[in-house]
Amino acid sequence: MNLKVLVCVFAFMFVSNLSFVCGQNEALSCNYSNSSSGYSCGLKIINPNGFNNFTGINGTHLIGMTDIDVLHVYKSLSNTLNIPSIICETFQNTQTIELTASGIQIIDEDSFQKCTKLQFLDLKNNKIRQFHKNAFKENSELAYLLLWYNQITELPEDPFSNLQKLVRLDFELNQITNLPENIFNPLTGLSILYLERNLIEVLPRNIFSSLQNMSTLVMHNNKLKILHSDSFGHLPKLDEVHMYSNQIDAIDERLINNTGINSFNLQSNLCVSKDITDNSVTRESMRADLKLCFENYDRIMSGCADGNIDERVCKLEGKHEEVIKDIKALTEENEQMRLEINNLAKEKQELEENILTQNKIFIAAITELEHQMFELKGCGCGCQ
Ligand SMILES: *[C@@H]1O[C@H](CO)[C@@H](O)[C@H](O)[C@H]1NC(C)=O
Ligand SMILES: *[C@@H]1O[C@H](CO)[C@@H](O)[C@H](O)[C@H]1NC(C)=O
Ligand SMILES: *[C@@H]1O[C@H](CO)[C@@H](O)[C@H](O)[C@H]1NC(C)=O
Ligand SMILES: *[C@@H]1O[C@H](CO)[C@@H](O)[C@H](O)[C@H]1NC(C)=O
Ligand SMILES: *[C@@H]1O[C@H](CO)[C@@H](O)[C@H](O)[C@H]1NC(C)=O
Ligand SMILES: *[C@@H]1O[C@H](CO)[C@@H](O)[C@H](O)[C@H]1NC(C)=O
Repeated sequence: MNLKVLVCVFAFMFVSNLSFVCGQNEALSCNYSNSSSGYSCGLKIINPNGFNNFTGINGTHLIGMTDIDVLHVYKSLSNTLNIPSIICETFQNTQTIELTASGIQIIDEDSFQKCTKLQFLDLKNNKIRQFHKNAFKENSELAYLLLWYNQITELPEDPFSNLQKLVRLDFELNQITNLPENIFNPLTGLSILYLERNLIEVLPRNIFSSLQNMSTLVMHNNKLKILHSDSFGHLPKLDEVHMYSNQIDAIDERLINNTGINSFNLQSNLCVSKDITDNSVTRESMRADLKLCFENYDRIMSGCADGNIDERVCKLEGKHEEVIKDIKALTEENEQMRLEINNLAKEKQELEENILTQNKIFIAAITELEHQMFELKGCGCGCQ
């Protein structure tokens, strides 16, 4: 490997304005191989200035193979501002493209235009700020579109118009504040939608109404304040909804009633924070208009089994003794408990005091509190 290029690439990781100096070393080449995912190009792309005037891709094919045999393009070494159209022009049959952590900032109209067979596109962990509204227009076979951990703040108008075969759309960990009302309408085949860890404040009422095949909606760690039942109504396959760590303080009573949702996780929302220390609250003591939430409490609780959360933590709801027992069990196994995204630091003192004095929960061995652990009580809703 060219040492100069290598040095340059490493330099990029630290000093971005070297781009200039290094710009002279634009390179685009493939290391071809036969792998379990088919004939593949391990792509080396050095293009920090975002040129789109490449005329070919270097590299030597395996004997008997040509550009049209390539089914899989993955990055082997990359630093590029954009995705030059030559990649899809060259490998028109590719079904998979994985260009993760490559510094990509822009997706153009022609980036994937010629990849009409594309099924799996993984662009996670880049710096994508914008993508052209027609970026995926020719990719009607696309089933997986992974754009998580980027810097997307705004979604273009109608960017998914031909993606009826999309099964999974992943926008986790971006900075999206706003969802255009019709944006998901074309995605009639979508099964899983990941929108967590964004800055979304409002859920337009009919935003999901076309997603008749959606079974899982993941929107935790946003800034949602209100949940309307008609945001979820009439979605026959919807089974699992993750809404924890939002700022929800109002929930339409019909929310759970109207759907077949089995698992609705509402931990760590505003409406529950006042109830943190009240582990012995009974259903009857809740506000009358919140009864519905508690009628469905078991179903809501079953939503606690999110991938990040220890299932035992989620079973803490219940009688006093059970709470104590479970926390003890927990402390034996986990001396140090992880703090998931939380704002506990400032409340910690108060929280500990309250739990210790009011509920006599043994927490001495826990050096850090899992925020969600104590909010489960409010896993229902609106306990102000
Ligand atoms: C391809 O290789 C040649 C010879 O090493 C080099 O001059 C050229 O810049 C390379 N082109 C690309 C696009 O990497
Ligand atoms: C090309 O790929 C093969 C197998 O995937 C690997 O063993 C080899 O080191 C790669 N060569 C270069 C120059 O990256
Ligand atoms: C692409 O355009 C840039 C800027 O105009 C130029 O420096 C570079 O040589 C061009 N590359 C090719 C392969 O034509
Ligand atoms: C690569 O794999 C294909 C399909 O399995 C096979 O037909 C071809 O001969 C292989 N080529 C090489 C060079 O190993
Ligand atoms: C809905 O999902 C199922 C699998 O869960 C799949 O077989 C079916 O084709 C999908 N329907 C649409 C309209 O994409
Ligand atoms: C919710 O469903 C229960 C039983 O299925 C019913 O008694 C109750 O009236 C419903 N509540 C609303 C607000 O629709």
